[in-house]
Amino acid sequence: MRDIEVLIDKNSIEKKVIELGKIISNDYNGEDILILGVLNGSFIFLADLIRNISNSNVEIRFIRAKSYLGTQTTGEVNINSVDNTSFKDKNILIVEDIIDTGITLEKLRKKIHLENPKSVKIAAFLDKISRRTVDIKPDYCCFEIPDKFVVGYGLDYNENYRHLPFVGVLE
Ligand code: IMP
Ligand code: MG
Repeated sequence: MRDIEVLIDKNSIEKKVIELGKIISNDYNGEDILILGVLNGSFIFLADLIRNISNSNVEIRFIRAKSYLGTQTTGEVNINSVDNTSFKDKNILIVEDIIDTGITLEKLRKKIHLENPKSVKIAAFLDKISRRTVDIKPDYCCFEIPDKFVVGYGLDYNENYRHLPFVGVLE
């Protein structure tokens, strides 16, 4: 395994995700939520987050998006439905591992809006604000991070390191 410097440790992640779950529960105030996880990166954040959402019916769906090769964005995003979920009249909460340029989420948001959902919000585990090229802001975010390539807690480098319980910088 390559050297990885810890950027956000396991305890800080745990605390933040619990906090965010409470805020989301409060905001939706018992309304039904359709959580739309963006594969592959969001699966760990999503699993922890949903267990901290109370008093709402929560439907879980997934969608697949891919734009990165190694540590570089290709600028082209492929979005594929995993099933043919209808978004009509639903409160969609998109759950993403990290927002970088914002291109993935912009494309995904447009696709969802075509189906007339009741509402669309974004929960991102990480936000690399300095890299943004399009106008996208998460409604909920755990941590803002500097422009470094990070792995762990679902985030990968060529499909490796997703299992790490912390967020680290690949040296
Ligand atoms: P965007 O379309 O540029 O916002 O790219 C978002 C996607 O790129 C994320 O969902 C990640 O899959 C990937 N990505 C961006 N930055 C990183 C990183 O630092 N580590 C791992 N994946 C990243
Ligand atoms: Mg991703």
